[in-house]
Amino acid sequence: MDICVIGAGYVGLATAVGFASIGNRVFLVGRSKDKTERINSGDPTIYEPGMGEGLRSTVAKKYIIATTELKQAISDSEASFICVGTPSGKDGSIDLSDMKRASQDIGLVLKGIKKYHVVVVKSTVVPETTEKVVIPALEKFSGKKAGKDFGICMTPEFLREGLAMEDFKNPDRIVIGEFDKRSGDVIERLYSGFKAKKLRTGLKTAEMIKYASNSLLATKISFSNEIGNICKILGIDTHEVMKGVGLDYRLGPHFLDSGCGFGGSCFPKDVSAIISKAEDIGYEPVLLKQVMDINSKQKTRLVEMLRKKTGSMKGKKIAVLGLAFKPDTDDIREAPAIDVIRELKKEDAEITGYDPKAIENMKSVFPDIRYAQSARQAISGADACLVLTEWDEFKRLTDADFDSMNTRVILTGRRVLDGIRGVEGICW
Ligand code: UGA
Repeated sequence: MDICVIGAGYVGLATAVGFASIGNRVFLVGRSKDKTERINSGDPTIYEPGMGEGLRSTVAKKYIIATTELKQAISDSEASFICVGTPSGKDGSIDLSDMKRASQDIGLVLKGIKKYHVVVVKSTVVPETTEKVVIPALEKFSGKKAGKDFGICMTPEFLREGLAMEDFKNPDRIVIGEFDKRSGDVIERLYSGFKAKKLRTGLKTAEMIKYASNSLLATKISFSNEIGNICKILGIDTHEVMKGVGLDYRLGPHFLDSGCGFGGSCFPKDVSAIISKAEDIGYEPVLLKQVMDINSKQKTRLVEMLRKKTGSMKGKKIAVLGLAFKPDTDDIREAPAIDVIRELKKEDAEITGYDPKAIENMKSVFPDIRYAQSARQAISGADACLVLTEWDEFKRLTDADFDSMNTRVILTGRRVLDGIRGVEGICW
């Protein structure tokens, strides 16, 4: 099928490369010429395992054509996926400005084309957005009627950063929220090659499935962190506990790893947005607020542990290993490292950060700390080391590497240094 993907950010790129790699022709619409040119030359502009290779092979076959020309891209395709950013506003509510702009622009294009076209919302949007924001804008600017002159669907994405290409090929479910059957049929045809279970449902139900999924995953993590904090005081290994808990088939073993809290562009933003939406409609989401509260405290727990161990941190050399919010990405959005470094700076510590991929991004937040070229270099001569991301490179560090520290204070926010002498974990 010929499709158009609007938004060349993370979700847009992953969606474009995913659909193109299974034989669809994708027009990927970005706002800047510079970016579309880079994409057309095979440069994905972000780090994601497998994305560079996927992009280069599909660009070579002309299965992906990045462009800034929305009109041509929509006219040449059967369906358009809106993949623009939906960031958090200052109060945690969702910022729909890009979504509104995209809906308006698509509406104006629909006005001038005769054939039936399905608009698909793929960005994460709070329930009712497609019905109350996207459809009215499309109808207003096209002068046409949803369900009659054009189709509309909402298909949430469940890709994980670092595993997006794999997740695209092997999803565990495909949710198609549809305005009407005809719209849903077009999108189900696009997904017909996937073995995953398909759920066809309403628009706002599809929107809510995404929030409920991310909120439950975030809840599992905050729950595990709370249990982990209790285990720590009692001298119990929380990972052993969660291994036992996860053997219950009703609970499952996933997302029970305690640590220094969840980060990324999804959980913090999505849980905040659904809290804000609930409050808007007069409901107090007590549990979800606690999930966020536990998480924000968890992020700087390692600094408190360090303070207890070392007293004043003024002038102390602290190595911070792991700046990305998780391994296999260069994404630092809401990464625990940001909160940790901010706290350490308040105490006038001498900070050296290291990450296999995320240093350049972190330099834009903290241009004034030191950055090392390897984990070994970062810990050499350090008074303390904090580990915040479970990169494979850190798992390969040996006792001898840590012998180069000035004082052997090693605190881990992720379970990566088992077996290293003197390591103390956040919850273990
Ligand atoms: C998450 C969801 O897992 C995806 O299904 C969803 O599509 C995506 O958000 C999204 O909404 O776009 P992602 O943020 O890429 O994906 O990463 P996760 O692997 O879910 O990890 C999120 C955070 O939770 C990381 O900081 C990670 O370290 C933390 N985490 C994860 C834990 O602290 N403990 C765990 O057991 C699992």
